[in-house]
Amino acid sequence: MAQYDYNGKVAIVTGGGSGIGEACALTFARSGAKVVVADYDEEGGKRVTEMIESDGGEATFVAVDVAKPEQNEAMVSTAVETYGGLHVAVNNAGIGGAQAPTGEYPIESWQQVLDVNLSGVFYGMRYEIPAMLASGGGSIVNMASILGSVAFAQSAAYVSAKHGVLGLTKTAAVEYSGQGIRVNSVGPGFINTPLLEENLDQDTLTALAGMHPIGRLGEAQEVADLVAFLGSDSASFCTGGYYLVDGAYTAQ
Ligand code: NAI
Repeated sequence: MAQYDYNGKVAIVTGGGSGIGEACALTFARSGAKVVVADYDEEGGKRVTEMIESDGGEATFVAVDVAKPEQNEAMVSTAVETYGGLHVAVNNAGIGGAQAPTGEYPIESWQQVLDVNLSGVFYGMRYEIPAMLASGGGSIVNMASILGSVAFAQSAAYVSAKHGVLGLTKTAAVEYSGQGIRVNSVGPGFINTPLLEENLDQDTLTALAGMHPIGRLGEAQEVADLVAFLGSDSASFCTGGYYLVDGAYTAQ
């Protein structure tokens, strides 16, 4: 497990109540950060917050729907008011959406996936960046996917949103690299989390594992270790990048 120094840092993790976000929140807290666990699932968010506290760390749960701009603003205000600033943000909350060919893709699911997976990342950054500027700089990690750079049939909304996250990440990186804010995106392959387990049967999960040359699905901690590096000062020359953690899925 990677260890980077997060002492004195305040971190927000959206979608911190489950899966990859949970692993990121726990890793940050173990590394010394004060963590705002932001999620619209109160049960999951509070569970992770309590895990951090019972482990001796500091964390606060904030209920947020990332698709709502004003709730992102409130999330960032809570971080600043509770812990005095903001240095790290992982815009990770995301949903899978419907599976259908593009010519039949349900319009409502398209809108919902774009609202959460793309606009949600923008709304987060929209309020995180001013708070980071006021805190002397920071690091933003946006959760894309391998599907930020390659297609996946039946998933037009998800693939489009994740491609959009890369563009958003690069734009903000160019804008703020001179002001002490680094912005990167991460591209996990298929990761063993509730997002997959709740939506796919065992045969599909086995088939998905086989699409990774490494021969298995990834684990949330393997993504969190990369995020922990990018969020930390150890990644001081990394900005505007798209970092894969995908068992060679996209190398084929
Ligand atoms: P998950 O379903 O385990 O966790 C997602 C969390 O986000 C949940 O706690 C959920 O309540 C929260 N969330 C969803 N919509 C929200 C909203 N509108 N506002 C606030 N919170 C919301 O999923 P997982 O797998 O941990 O996914 C996290 C991120 O990683 C997502 O952006 C996903 O697209 C991305 N990802 C996941 C992969 C996988 O195979 N599991 C692969 C590549 C990327």
